[in-house]
Amino acid sequence: MESFSIIGGKPVQGSIAVRGSKNATLPLLAASLLADGPCEFSNVPLLRDVQTQVKILNTLGVETVWQGRRVRTQVIDSYNNTAPYELVKQMRAGVCVLGPLLAKRGECKVSLPGGCVIGERPIDLHLRGLEALGAEISMEHGYIHAKAPKGGLVGNEIYLGGKFGSSVTATENVMSAAVLARGTTTIECAACEPEVVDVAQFLNAMGARIEGAGSPRITIRGVKRLRGCAWSVIPDRIEAATFVVLAAACRGQLTIKGCRPDHMLAFLDVLRQMQVPVSRSASSLTIDARSLRPAACDVVTLPYPAFPTDCQAQIMALAAIAKGTSVITERIYPERFMAGAEMKRMGADIRVANGQAVVNGVSALQGAEVMASDLRASAALVIAAAAAKGESLISRIYHIDRGYERIDERLAKVGLAIRRCPGAG
Ligand code: EPU
Repeated sequence: MESFSIIGGKPVQGSIAVRGSKNATLPLLAASLLADGPCEFSNVPLLRDVQTQVKILNTLGVETVWQGRRVRTQVIDSYNNTAPYELVKQMRAGVCVLGPLLAKRGECKVSLPGGCVIGERPIDLHLRGLEALGAEISMEHGYIHAKAPKGGLVGNEIYLGGKFGSSVTATENVMSAAVLARGTTTIECAACEPEVVDVAQFLNAMGARIEGAGSPRITIRGVKRLRGCAWSVIPDRIEAATFVVLAAACRGQLTIKGCRPDHMLAFLDVLRQMQVPVSRSASSLTIDARSLRPAACDVVTLPYPAFPTDCQAQIMALAAIAKGTSVITERIYPERFMAGAEMKRMGADIRVANGQAVVNGVSALQGAEVMASDLRASAALVIAAAAAKGESLISRIYHIDRGYERIDERLAKVGLAIRRCPGAG
């Protein structure tokens, strides 16, 4: 297994471009199953999770042709309707094919995604939503078996709220199924994330009739068929935020290009409270954190437009070296604090209990050997290592390759002393 060696303490400098959003790409690719013709996606990030989704599509009879960051998808046969365990277990977003497959092919089997290190991640809302459209759902040998009624799915009113609020992929799944249902569907308590809006706009470009995406009520008037179309994926707001925090943590000067600051308002507000100077244009962010020690800040993660859980570990790395005490409350995944334990090995003062981390900022972290446990925790460890004195060795970096395209090469270009060590870790 590969690892990263990072020698910290040197500020990053220059500019870095953001790639397309992972969490938009995965449901977009799944939604292409609904098209009668080819779809062509551009600004697709070259990531392990995207490759996994493409492999799932391939097993479902979709031909995919790559050209740089573009991928063309076309359904060439619809014989196999089973998304297998070997692939879905690698990435929970494999479950995004459930809604499109059910709507388009009338019946499908999708492996249950299984356990997840960031906490319990049920799929009851996905199933409840599809059942409301008339689907018959049963669990068979670790697979979800979904069957549409004769004549296809039927529009309905669906309340999609769970105990932690809305669900991003459940909203995408149910919306992608309802586009071909007879009649009108209303989703109440829909997730409002920009990735949901991207999927809705893509479906509309294919001929769907969706209104209200980006608000808690989405209305979908069913249509008979959808055509293929070209689509450019929105920029990854989590990757952009990760780079902002990295620059702040190592007291750098960095411009993040090709991002959507309007998708990052809660995050930017936390940076403002931490007294990190960030200026913005419509598509870039510039941070100048030279000789700055950030201030502590209390942060609560909640569904969009509030502060995202996917930035929580990264902000914890910054809080670890801030002046004062920060309290970070995780309301989406109360157990998602694995990065904290590793950062303690680097000298951080973090106590985690009951879905909260109390972080007493220290004046400096020390390089150490640490282990990545999941995607965002590994991004946080890269940030902590970039800020720390001396060398850190981060093992299990396959987690970071799931969601950040060649992060080592890109960060090396802005001056981070990072090296990928083959075979170690
Ligand atoms: N939930 C339920 N029932 C469900 C679905 C979700 O109770 O049927 C709960 C979850 O347990 C959680 C909350 O609802 O507490 C939100 O989960 P959600 O379903 O929104 O998460 P998701 O759709 O599985 C997406 C992202 C995650 C991100 C979350 C929250 C994709 C492919 N994944 O997951 O991204 O953390 O939304 O914003 O869009 C990541 O990129 O690192 C990542 C984990």
